[in-house]
Amino acid sequence: MNAPCTPVPFHVAIIMDGNGRWAKRRGLPRLLGHRAGVHALERVVRAAPGLGITHLSVYAFSTENWQRPSTEILGLMSILRVYLKRKVRELKERDVRLLFCGTRAGLSPDVADLMAWAEEETSSNSLLTLIPCFNYGGRQEILDAVNALVAEGRSGPVDQEDIRRHLYLPDLPDPDLIIRTSGEQRLSNFWAWQGTYSELYFTDTLWPDFDGECLERAVQHFADRERRYGALA
Ligand code: IPE
Ligand code: IPE
Ligand code: MG
Repeated sequence: MNAPCTPVPFHVAIIMDGNGRWAKRRGLPRLLGHRAGVHALERVVRAAPGLGITHLSVYAFSTENWQRPSTEILGLMSILRVYLKRKVRELKERDVRLLFCGTRAGLSPDVADLMAWAEEETSSNSLLTLIPCFNYGGRQEILDAVNALVAEGRSGPVDQEDIRRHLYLPDLPDPDLIIRTSGEQRLSNFWAWQGTYSELYFTDTLWPDFDGECLERAVQHFADRERRYGALA
């Protein structure tokens, strides 16, 4: 692996899309595409620290994905269970901290318990923070923040800091770079608050084919971007 490019995106976010199409092209059931997607995630987690990435968030299940057939939803839940039961030990050895982002509402209690267990087990790790966004929706997150403020009895105007403090992971730095695989060019309700100034990178590669070299290419593109945040260059 080459030396980290500068400037390095510290927080890279990935919309892991294209599992279904990957499977369809092979005449396989969609769930095998999702399983292959887990291997791609493992490759990317291994490659990220060498590229200088400290935070890696991955969109794994959106609040809109509940609209999919129940067989697919059940399959995705079981992939998450298996991933956590089998991989937490390895994540610990790799010094990877797990933080889930999303609402636990609607998840079965055993899945929510496994998430809490995995977070606890990896809580002292610090090389890379892996943030699976599971049952995550950007609009829902903002709505939850507003409702938390209402529940606190806040009256009068709120400001941006009030909202930020009530996001699911308030201390997480905003994503510097958002990657979407599979040729789609939209955010699909990912990082609605935090992604307003993220650089965007789209690739036709389907998620199960994505690897460390693909990630390195995206990071190299990022290094050439000029971020102005609305100010003059
Ligand atoms: C992304 O792959 C994974 C999830 C949304 C859970 P898709 O399942 O959306 O794959 P395509 O877009 O149908 O190919
Ligand atoms: C976005 O992909 C959500 C995840 C990758 C988890 P989708 O496949 O659900 O998005 P749309 O429906 O194409 O916008
Ligand atoms: Mg998709």
